[in-house]
Amino acid sequence: MSVIPRFLTKVDGSPLGALVIEPMRRKHLRYVMPIEEGAYPKSWSRSVFESELDQVRCGSRCYLVGCMDKRVVGYAGLWFVDDPDGNQAHVTNIVVDPDRRRQGIATQMLLALAETAITRGCVAWTLEVRASSEGAIDLYRRFGFAPAGVRRRYYENSEDAIVMWCHDIHTHDYAERLRALAS
Ligand SMILES: CC(C)(COP(=O)(O)OP(=O)(O)OC[C@H]1O[C@@H](n2cnc3c(N)ncnc32)[C@H](O)[C@@H]1OP(=O)(O)O)[C@@H](O)C(=O)NCCC(=O)NCCS
Repeated sequence: MSVIPRFLTKVDGSPLGALVIEPMRRKHLRYVMPIEEGAYPKSWSRSVFESELDQVRCGSRCYLVGCMDKRVVGYAGLWFVDDPDGNQAHVTNIVVDPDRRRQGIATQMLLALAETAITRGCVAWTLEVRASSEGAIDLYRRFGFAPAGVRRRYYENSEDAIVMWCHDIHTHDYAERLRALAS
């Protein structure tokens, strides 16, 4: 049974109203780019997104957008890495429109990405996060990510990145964690 039955369907009910999570397409980039440009000191260019979307076609990436009232309010992506010791998924990016934060949108998108990673046979997922992004770190901890290392001066050659890992995402225990987050 699906852990997240709402993936690619409407999420109805308070407080989100109706959030629709669907695969990112090039047509979404006109809405994605202004959100991206406001999110980071050094944001991804449109050509980076286009290149990532090309990789979706090859099956090595997954990008989703969250839409409310037919407007993009957030997006998130995964990079799949095959590994003989167990396939992994890397969270490449996740951003929510500043006007829509703290409404659970990133949580819903991460739930959808988790289901995608598990369906793809991944046994772990990982990400890098700015050391100063305490809110994002808190969000990731909820999903079971734990700090595993630091990449010094990773961002703009000045800010450290915390490397976080979450293992055993294929297990019953992790499915229970996701169910609790989904509810
Ligand atoms: C990080 C980000 C994606 C979170 O999106 P969001 O939709 O607001 O997150 P959610 O509403 O799902 O938050 C879930 C939980 O995460 C934690 N959290 C998220 N943002 C937080 C913040 N700014 N401060 C403290 N805790 C925060 C809280 O525990 C929150 O639960 P609560 O609202 O019940 O307290 C969003 O702030 C963002 O786009 N930031 C800029 C881009 C960025 O830094 N992305 C991360 C790259 S690694």
